Amino acid sequence: MLHGKRILLIIGGGIAAYKALDLIRRLQDQGASVRGILTKGGSEFITPLSVASLTGDKAYTDLFDLTDEAEMGHIRLSREADLVLVAPATADLMAKMANGLANDLASTALLATDKPVMLCPAMNVEMWDKPATQRNLKTLLSDGATVVPPGEGMLACGEMGAGRLAEVSDIVEAVIKHFGSETKPLSGQLFIVTAGPTHEDIDPVRYIANKSSGKQGYALAEALRDFGAKVTLVSGPTSLSVPEGVSFVAVRSARDMLSAVEAALPADAAICVAAVADYRVADQANQKLKKGQSDFSQLALIENPDILKTISQVGANRPTLVVGFAAETENVLENGQAKLARKGCDWIIANDVSLQTNVMGGDENSIIIIKKDTYKTFDKMTKKDVGNLLATHIKDCLIK
Ligand code: CTP
Repeated sequence: MLHGKRILLIIGGGIAAYKALDLIRRLQDQGASVRGILTKGGSEFITPLSVASLTGDKAYTDLFDLTDEAEMGHIRLSREADLVLVAPATADLMAKMANGLANDLASTALLATDKPVMLCPAMNVEMWDKPATQRNLKTLLSDGATVVPPGEGMLACGEMGAGRLAEVSDIVEAVIKHFGSETKPLSGQLFIVTAGPTHEDIDPVRYIANKSSGKQGYALAEALRDFGAKVTLVSGPTSLSVPEGVSFVAVRSARDMLSAVEAALPADAAICVAAVADYRVADQANQKLKKGQSDFSQLALIENPDILKTISQVGANRPTLVVGFAAETENVLENGQAKLARKGCDWIIANDVSLQTNVMGGDENSIIIIKKDTYKTFDKMTKKDVGNLLATHIKDCLIK
């Protein structure tokens, strides 16, 4: 299953490092070639000689080794791999990665690589549960790393809980799954998806928002990811978890969202699912506006940039496919068709968001896909199914 795949295995300094030896063998059994880097801590638990004997290559340990640098070089080492696998990923390695530190060979290779990174954390349960580690994990996920989560049980330190390195068979399965995505229909295609509401601040404590939950945009981003696309999800504030395997950019206002979308260009497709606030206050107050001292009946609003319209008209940088959503409470088809013409996008996905439909915030949606000369109406289904349906339509449009 992994024939011809080159894996750079970074072995951190934890008791689970001994399992890396079995991991090397199991990856090789699947046809992969493995090259090993040991951190200083990793070399305390298993010897470079064991790693070198199993990989049939040198075990790399030292950033400043003149021979290594002359023969291989840390940049080449990090690039001559199809996947960088970190097992065990210690709390220290994760913290370094999340903060862009590069003070040894392992962290330098991780910062220098242009290849996908998969982390297999292993540590004491308290270390795993600490807010700092969970913050780092969140950062690493939104930077696009994939994580094979640790298992629960008795830890080497004698405590119970989460923190055991995932089973070697599960790590191998995750690596196989990762490479399986290369043959998926949208692999190599870059997508931007906007989702959620935007918040437009009035003062430090108040803002203008809407009822969007972000569920539809996140479901679509996940469906596109499962089709192999490289997705940048630009999301306004929501209570949803960051989907794994997408690059996640959290924004607040419409203007932040536009900047993030422009920064993610060029892309093959942009799908604007976000319920962007059309207006923001003209003069955002630096201090809380006080009742009685401020005239709330005169809150002046100015129009926000239209992200969908802007992306539809960016000239040479315009994605091949630009899709917008239309949130309507009446004349859904007609308003959707008018929006298609007004925005200059390729399709509009119109949905009825009137109160009785419970679409805003709910788990179901019924959509109409509107194109220039045609439209198709679909029955109510879950937002997850809408995501899969749209991903299939998009794939059929982009891949001839
Ligand atoms: N949109 C956007 N930027 C805005 C407003 C809307 O990118 N400032 C996008 C939405 O993400 C969606 C589409 O435009 O894809 C339509 O959004 P919708 O709220 O339905 O329509 P509006 O353009 O806001 O028009 P109206 O409020 O009059 O219905």
